[in-house]
Amino acid sequence: MGKYFLGMSKFTVPDKVLFVCTGSKCGKRGGKDMYKAAKKFVKYSPQNIEVLRIECTDRCDYAPVCTISPGNIWLKEYTEKEVLKLLNS
Ligand code: FES
Repeated sequence: MGKYFLGMSKFTVPDKVLFVCTGSKCGKRGGKDMYKAAKKFVKYSPQNIEVLRIECTDRCDYAPVCTISPGNIWLKEYTEKEVLKLLNS
């Protein structure tokens, strides 16, 4: 887990972030389920992974879409299994 200190306060950042599009197209095509599954998954992960919902990224034709940071990894038409496997690596 990264830690950044600014003055006396501690600003902590996660090892990875999964950004899940839950916009209208992605949400209907699995984005909302992905978000819920990932939130459960990270509770038991040894890594510090944060899961965030994002709005439409204008890639609706490829829905559902998500991205993992670091690495700028973008997934289109994913399955939950694919995303969780990548998060685990
Ligand atoms: S709703 Fe996800 S890219 Fe548009």
